[in-house]
Amino acid sequence: RSGRMVVVRAEGINPEIRKTEDKVVDSVIVTELAKPLTAYCRCWRSATFPLCDGSHVKHNKATGDNVGPLLLKKQ
Ligand code: FES
Repeated sequence: RSGRMVVVRAEGINPEIRKTEDKVVDSVIVTELAKPLTAYCRCWRSATFPLCDGSHVKHNKATGDNVGPLLLKKQ
């Protein structure tokens, strides 16, 4: 092991944007994409960053936050 310690703080990262929504997810329709759907992380907790791996669910439960991914959808 490297001996490096990682400290994860249980605090939200979205103090004010669309807080009335359960989860803030935005979609963009793109005509030229290799895959039908790509989700980009906006919670900074993904182990596959910059791609979303679903870690925002755990983050939102721990902090009361409402962050979600940016979805790129192929038209
Ligand atoms: Fe970060 Fe999904 S893991 S938004």
